[in-house]
Amino acid sequence: MVWSNGVDTAGRARQGGVFLMITSVLEFRARKGLAPIGMVSAHTHWEAALLAESAVDCVLVGDSLATVIDGEATTFSATPEIMARHTAAVARGLGAAGGRRLLVADFPFLAARRGTAHAVEVAALLLRAGAQAVKIEGVDGHADVIAHLVQSGVPVMGHLGLTPQTVHALGGYKVQGKTAAAADDLLRQARALEAAGVFGMVLECVPAAVATELTAAVSVPTIGIGAGAGCDGQVLVMTDLLGLTPGRRPRFVREFARAGEAARAGLAAFATATAARTFPAAEESY
Ligand code: KIV
Repeated sequence: MVWSNGVDTAGRARQGGVFLMITSVLEFRARKGLAPIGMVSAHTHWEAALLAESAVDCVLVGDSLATVIDGEATTFSATPEIMARHTAAVARGLGAAGGRRLLVADFPFLAARRGTAHAVEVAALLLRAGAQAVKIEGVDGHADVIAHLVQSGVPVMGHLGLTPQTVHALGGYKVQGKTAAAADDLLRQARALEAAGVFGMVLECVPAAVATELTAAVSVPTIGIGAGAGCDGQVLVMTDLLGLTPGRRPRFVREFARAGEAARAGLAAFATATAARTFPAAEESY
């Protein structure tokens, strides 16, 4: 039900005919061709609490947590148990602030390659932790696993292009689909994902023209990261978009805030105040 002030019974604002945040895979799919989808990859309770107060449509617990949280060079160390633990933390953060919205969790490294029984176990772990859907990288060789999960009632999001779990086979973190043959192959994979029943797909690091063509070719929303403005939505990792990630950042990352600078200033102020004994003040003491 939508009230006359444009807010529905769940407290969601409506703008231009669409709800500002997405609470289910059905709403996600319905956005295709209507309004761009904003998705953020987050890993912690505090990030989720901030997201819950935002107009970001939906949230991914990405296996980028291995690199972002643990400082690893790859995503391989994000096991099903680690993914479930962070999914639960993010679900609590979204729920606590009343900001419930579509929560997708990444299927960890090789978890879709050990047969359907293993995939079902991993999906159960992630959905019990609070995810409503899982994201699986690639399609060749595990389309049957994806289809089995979908038919079991587990919504699956695809992920094509630069798939970090196959970084070694790809020869590094490189743009994919640059030649006509590679672009055609991406299109084939996107169609295979669609046939397997995914409700959407991430396109990572592919030329904008290829992503635009692919977006037009499939019936489900595409979410780009380093894939140009022609996708149905965009995703960034929260620490990247807040300017909290140290070191060199990829070209596709825009820092929408300077939280790293604020954090450095805050730490310097704490150190100075502690050294000068101006912290804690009387009103901060018992
Ligand atoms: O792991 C992740 O955070 C992701 C997004 C960057 C799409 O897969």
